Amino acid sequence: MTVSTILDDLQALRAKAEGQLAAADDLDSIEAVRIEFLGRKGAISLLKRNLKDVAPEDRPKVGTEANAISEWLETELNQKKDALEVAALNQKLAGETIDITMPGVVQGQGGAHPITRMMDELAELFGRLGFTCLDDTACPEVETEYYNFDALNFPAHHPARDMQDTFYTDAGENVVLRSQTSNAQIRHMQKFKPPIRVISPGRVYRNEDVSRQKHVLFHQCEGLVVDKHITVAHLKGTLNHFIEEMFGLDDNGNPRATRFRTSYFPFTEPSMEMDVMYRRQINGEWKEDWLEILGCGMVDPNVLSEVGVDPEEYTGFAFGMGVERLAMLKYGIHNIRDFFINDQRFLRRHNWAGLSLFK
Ligand code: DAH
Repeated sequence: MTVSTILDDLQALRAKAEGQLAAADDLDSIEAVRIEFLGRKGAISLLKRNLKDVAPEDRPKVGTEANAISEWLETELNQKKDALEVAALNQKLAGETIDITMPGVVQGQGGAHPITRMMDELAELFGRLGFTCLDDTACPEVETEYYNFDALNFPAHHPARDMQDTFYTDAGENVVLRSQTSNAQIRHMQKFKPPIRVISPGRVYRNEDVSRQKHVLFHQCEGLVVDKHITVAHLKGTLNHFIEEMFGLDDNGNPRATRFRTSYFPFTEPSMEMDVMYRRQINGEWKEDWLEILGCGMVDPNVLSEVGVDPEEYTGFAFGMGVERLAMLKYGIHNIRDFFINDQRFLRRHNWAGLSLFK
């Protein structure tokens, strides 16, 4: 073959490629052109491979020309491919245009459930007094009678067990749903030695008829202080301070009046219930009345002995309160069932402050 024939062939290939390239209008046909000319068995590749048939002195010229055509075609192919891809993307984007003038879907803003809020308030309030708030994994809700009753000095078969209508389970003998957070006292003192200053909020269960005031599931917050020389004065001081912080001052700017009434709980001696003075309207007239807020007392020596704390050396006080009850008073909620129904109108109420029933 003469050089000029080969060079003519190359030019012819170039012209052919150019024609096919111009006609190629999708990615597949572009690829077909690439394979036809530049593929392993492509026309230009074959020609390059047959360079050995060309006279040695002519090889550089032919080689250079063949390479130039390969590079030109390669560039053209890539450019066309890029252009097609951009066009395809633009078309896709055009199909996905967003009308930013359309009204959006309103995203409701969530908020803490009032029970969570109240438990947070308690943790913060008692936190300022040096209490540690135990998290709800510290104490099981499915509990044995031992922790719910026995260790808390409820004698077996004693009517005090009936004070709380307990759910018994078939998960095993003596397995109950805890009826009070007081199990936290035992669980905590088994693990930690005095000095102790903790609160433990959590769920409790009782077999009650559900009403505006009562529910089968509710929350309590337990408190426990054990140290040397703890007296009733500490109990009263702490709880009076708690009431002042939680419910503020009365209309005359004074701390709300409180009173401690003697009561009975097996795990405290003496036991008391704490009442707070509040005002309510009866037949249009404001009347003062006492409202029970919590149970409390000095930790019974039997309870301390049960967990290996020497009652001769240590004393303590404990208290327990209903979280729903506090939230109802503080946030002005009238029906305990509202906490559990998940009605959006209730949950969306965000101005929990300033609606207190507590005048
Ligand atoms: N556990 C009691 C109840 O559910 C409330 C209570 C009373 C807790 C006195 C205490 C306490 O820690 O000292 O009725």
